[in-house]
Amino acid sequence: MKRESERSPGTAFLIQIFACEFKMSVVVRPSPSIETRVAPQRPETILSLKNVGKGFGSGVTRTEVLTNINLNVREGEFLAVVGFSGSGKSTFMKLLAGLETPDTGQLLMNGLPIAGPSPDRGLVFQNYSLLPWLTVRGNIALSVDSVFRSWPKAERRDHVEKFIEMVGLGHAAHRRPHELSGGMRQRVSLARTLAMKPKILLLDEPLSALDALTRSVLQEEILKIWEEERQTCVMITNDVDEAILVADRIVPLNPGPNASLGPTFTVELDRPRRATELNHNTTFRGLRNAVTNYLVAVRQKNRDDEAAASTAPKIELPDLQPRSLALPRKSTTNRPIVTS
Ligand SMILES: Nc1ncnc2c1ncn2[C@@H]1O[C@H](COP(=O)(O)OP(=O)(O)O)[C@@H](O)[C@H]1O
Ligand SMILES: [Mg+2]
Repeated sequence: MKRESERSPGTAFLIQIFACEFKMSVVVRPSPSIETRVAPQRPETILSLKNVGKGFGSGVTRTEVLTNINLNVREGEFLAVVGFSGSGKSTFMKLLAGLETPDTGQLLMNGLPIAGPSPDRGLVFQNYSLLPWLTVRGNIALSVDSVFRSWPKAERRDHVEKFIEMVGLGHAAHRRPHELSGGMRQRVSLARTLAMKPKILLLDEPLSALDALTRSVLQEEILKIWEEERQTCVMITNDVDEAILVADRIVPLNPGPNASLGPTFTVELDRPRRATELNHNTTFRGLRNAVTNYLVAVRQKNRDDEAAASTAPKIELPDLQPRSLALPRKSTTNRPIVTS
């Protein structure tokens, strides 16, 4: 099955053509017994961010959200970006998706600048963003029909069904979003993106809106799907345990404004991973401490720096004692009650 790579101006998807083919190096040794060897495949850099900066607003209302972001994402790896709320994680993700353009620096996919959204980079949002008037099947079919317009109808239909089954929604394929739980909606959202067969899967806190139990079930499902498909995945999360469970590498996003990336933490845990088993693993616990301690320390430093840099005049508060709000005793006269 070939993916369609021609432009389709009538759709909501801007399709870009990247003429980058996977390169496999063949080493031919000049020896008497001619030996042809396929070199071990080294993961190539698929995404590259060089000194990327992004801010919003102008003049005095301008905020520099991201500054000096440098990162290489390798083909086939699962990278998790962890950070506090408001630090610029979604802005970072929108840059990768091509929904925002950087103010400074360069954003490259396979060595070419990212100029806009593309089905090559499938984004799953926190808030599902499904079309409410379409069923589960209809939501997924819309994406498939847009991206794979040249496929025969039956092939597209089978493709849609495959992804409905993959996320365990066969029984609910005819339902509309308002008839689904939060976890089911997020499954549709995931299936819709996976069905477009993106080269890179971008997950922006896909599980943050879910209750803890549903979240842990879906974590394992995402992990299982990724272990089968092994496509490049960048996932934003505010949950350190989740990041360790799924990722090969964890990169913290320091608190903003002017947020930059922190040091890389490599997750050296065997796969397949299961959350219930990891709780007892000393590597897991050590990594959880290291990442959490880093995030807490960097946030404290950020607060201290902000307080030190603050030019706002310090307001001396008067030393007041709260007055009792208890009702005054019933007066026998109608005199207004004067309190001192
Ligand atoms: N389109 C926008 N216009 C103005 N400010 C924005 C815009 N998008 C994000 N911001 C600001 O950038 C900062 C980071 O936002 P965001 O990337 O959503 O953070 P996070 O996802 O980490 O919670 C916030 O202060 C937010 O108000
Ligand atoms: Mg966000």
